[in-house]
Amino acid sequence: MSADAPRRAHITGWGRYAPERVLTNRDLEEMVDTSDEWIVSRTGIRERRVAAAHETTASMAAVASLRAIRTAGIDPDDIDLILLATLTPDYWMPSTAALVKEAIGNKKAAAMDVAAACSGFVYAFATAQAYIAGGLAKHVLVIGAELLTRFLDYTDRSTCILFGDGAGAVVLSASDAPGGALGIELTTAPEGAYMIWLPAGGAKSPPSAETISRGEHYIRMEGRETYRFATKTMATTALEAVRKSGLDGSDIDLFIPHQANIRIVEAVAKGLNLPMDKMYVNLDRYGNTSAASVPIALAEAVNEGRVKVGDRIVMVAFGAGFTSGAVTVEWTADPARGLAGDAAVRPDEVHVRLPVDWDSVDPIPPALAALMAQPGSVDVPLDDVAPGEPESAHSEVHA
Ligand code: ACO
Repeated sequence: MSADAPRRAHITGWGRYAPERVLTNRDLEEMVDTSDEWIVSRTGIRERRVAAAHETTASMAAVASLRAIRTAGIDPDDIDLILLATLTPDYWMPSTAALVKEAIGNKKAAAMDVAAACSGFVYAFATAQAYIAGGLAKHVLVIGAELLTRFLDYTDRSTCILFGDGAGAVVLSASDAPGGALGIELTTAPEGAYMIWLPAGGAKSPPSAETISRGEHYIRMEGRETYRFATKTMATTALEAVRKSGLDGSDIDLFIPHQANIRIVEAVAKGLNLPMDKMYVNLDRYGNTSAASVPIALAEAVNEGRVKVGDRIVMVAFGAGFTSGAVTVEWTADPARGLAGDAAVRPDEVHVRLPVDWDSVDPIPPALAALMAQPGSVDVPLDDVAPGEPESAHSEVHA
């Protein structure tokens, strides 16, 4: 590498993992006063995935990470920094990133978690890019992983219908070659701090029988305020990242928005004067997987042939905080590598070490126990679950 040119961060690997068990809108109809029609028309979500009892945020992250590493064609030990974005870590400490480091067989990386809610992956990506540009790292593993279904109140129909579980990861690698990560924009608007929050369990309100009896260990959200913020900030943040890249909206081939709500994605497309076929959508099958949503969507978009070398992509997210972030990338990797990377890693071959002399309580929320106890898994190989075209999702939602 030349000594004076800033090094660029290229996406060389991508991978994702979603649990097999599917929770449909019809399943939710049995649990709360809602309907498939309401959920689809208000959100675009049809189903979401639910982690099994043996799965954790770290285990899902490790599978997605190994797939990204295999796609990149490097050894796990080539990674020198691991950044894991999540709002649902396995423990307060250690970091979930530390558990993932061990599970993927890496001996040398520094590992830490990043807390920026649904924007976390973009925040972690920006941090990775800075490490690479600064010459502090050559290969960085950037992960978004969430196990949200264990933090939902299944009596609150306004939140429990929205979220699902999963993980996505990319490998960012240093290079002098043109392309890779271009402009980045990150914002934090704390006036929205209590619009999406989880009140108890932290230092302000430590966990106790009383906090649990008040249901303060569940995610709470002011949907309308969040919706208003999201539509505005997603468009302005994406535009700013594009502008910082020296480009304009018409130069962008594909937007990978945070998969929260089809109406938000449509509003952003309208605000940016873009057709919906430039917005990648898979929220119909996963719901909102928070920090995992952008890397899962990116990996699927690439593996479905939606991305080619030279394409400019914008990943844009918003979330609790309120945080928002966008990054523009010029794609340089061979898109065909992703499917082989996925196939090379089987989830049952990946293990996160458990603590000695301690076992957790049954982690499955009682409301989901019947679903999870059903025999056999819903065997849907990820490679076969191509989402519908954005236009069809769009027209179905408004049919
Ligand atoms: N089924 C049926 N009715 C429902 C449901 C449901 N699941 N949920 C709410 N309703 C009812 C409400 O009670 C209300 O009834 P009322 O008029 O009798 O009072 C009515 O539907 C309308 O409720 P609204 O909240 O106004 O519905 P809205 O159109 O705003 O949709 C939604 C709600 C989907 C939550 C929307 O506001 C939204 O998507 N907001 C953004 C949320 C989001 O993206 N959050 C991501 C943050 S990610 C993170 O960082 C964790």
